[in-house]
Amino acid sequence: MSIIKKPIAKKPGEPVKKTAQPLSSVRGMRDMLPADQPYWRMAFEAAQKICDDFRFDRIETPVLEETSLFVRGVGKQTDIVEKEMYSFETSGSDKVTMRPENTAAICRSYIQHGMLNLPQPVKLWYWSSMFRHERPQSGRYREFWQFGCEMMGDSDAVVDAQLALISWKYLQSLGIESVVRINSIGTPESRLNYRNALVAYFRPKRSRMSDDDKKRLLKNPLRLLDSKDPVIQEMKMEAPQIVDWLDEPSKNHFMQVLEYLDEVGVPYQLDPFLVRGLDYYTRTVFELYEATDDQDLNQNALGGGGRYDGLMELLGGKETPAAGFSMGIDRIVSLLKSREDIKPPEEPIEVFVAQLGESGRKRALALFEELREAGFKAAETFSKSSIKTQMDNANRLDAKWTIIIGQKEVLDGTVIIRDMEAGTQEIIDAKKMVQELRKKMIQKSAETTN
Ligand code: HAM
Repeated sequence: MSIIKKPIAKKPGEPVKKTAQPLSSVRGMRDMLPADQPYWRMAFEAAQKICDDFRFDRIETPVLEETSLFVRGVGKQTDIVEKEMYSFETSGSDKVTMRPENTAAICRSYIQHGMLNLPQPVKLWYWSSMFRHERPQSGRYREFWQFGCEMMGDSDAVVDAQLALISWKYLQSLGIESVVRINSIGTPESRLNYRNALVAYFRPKRSRMSDDDKKRLLKNPLRLLDSKDPVIQEMKMEAPQIVDWLDEPSKNHFMQVLEYLDEVGVPYQLDPFLVRGLDYYTRTVFELYEATDDQDLNQNALGGGGRYDGLMELLGGKETPAAGFSMGIDRIVSLLKSREDIKPPEEPIEVFVAQLGESGRKRALALFEELREAGFKAAETFSKSSIKTQMDNANRLDAKWTIIIGQKEVLDGTVIIRDMEAGTQEIIDAKKMVQELRKKMIQKSAETTN
């Protein structure tokens, strides 16, 4: 059924009023509505807490970067760069891109601001939105949020393990049990030999491949390993595994990472075909999945990361080993919402301020400020004049007390305190309002603990 209404002229000669078409958000992008905000807040506060605990400093970089940053950093032949970037030319002919990920941008910032001169490792975290023009489907948005941590200037395996630990602990602090899938993809040199072995394995089978996968075989054969096509999934079972091609130092590094993870009890699964979709990785790569009894292979990753020792040089900086991860907050929030047993913490309203008449309303404004400054969780609906409506609101918000002020109280310099649970009320000196409420709060919490 069409919802477009034909414009109707009311009187002859009167100009026709056009009914504006309602607009929607752009496909693949969405509003984060107030109902979801408690979950977003919960996810953000948990990120801030764990980053404070592990002494990471916050960084935020611009949404727009030069396109070449991602072409060089993420890799020309990745899906992100080939098909998913929001890129455009500005009126000044600059080629810019809305960041599809943040690691390359953080490296750009590290180089630009000479962070190499700071004590290493430099530990940075961010909470930012990313943009990828992907096919919209469950768990995939074109604007999505990531919380990420990057540790620059240290090649030790303990860094990789700590990052996996932080990402796992982050989910756990939200009530999500997860498992880390982990692999090592070695150095670019050792990967070259593996790449040749993969091509030799897949080439005789190419007639059964889709056109996209044939292209991958030619340009970036490692990408075949995370193809979702069941034909490739089946072929993959017998494919050579990268661990057998790792150079000795990478193998030892990986063993150390796993030993550290064992030490701190992070559950992990070795995934010999995990290669990740960005070209900058070296050695450790990992992804986090919800731990469920049914380890459905099509689950969306809740986060991913790894080591990228060559990226800084690729972007024009000095050779600087580094590693990091990003968590997909949209996916985490939708998981939190689906879980009956997880509820965002509530901030109960302690005091509601109700007013009667013009002088009562004026005084109520000041009382509200006094309560807020004293640290009370207060609420009001000053635009309403009916006391019944105001009391209904106080009840709906589950306020413990309501302060009522009308013309008489203004003249007497008093206020009424109503205990909403007991339904009793008393008149007190307005100057003692904060003091009285504090006393009552202490009494109430003593009653509930007894
Ligand atoms: P990524 O695997 O591309 O890695 O993204 C990390 C996480 O972001 C994914 O596991 C997923 O949860 C979420 N994500 C990715 N794309 C979407 C989407 N279209 N919609 C919703 N969520 C999405 C990176 O971005 C690297 N920068 C991670 C990293 C940091 N590596 C080292 N440091």
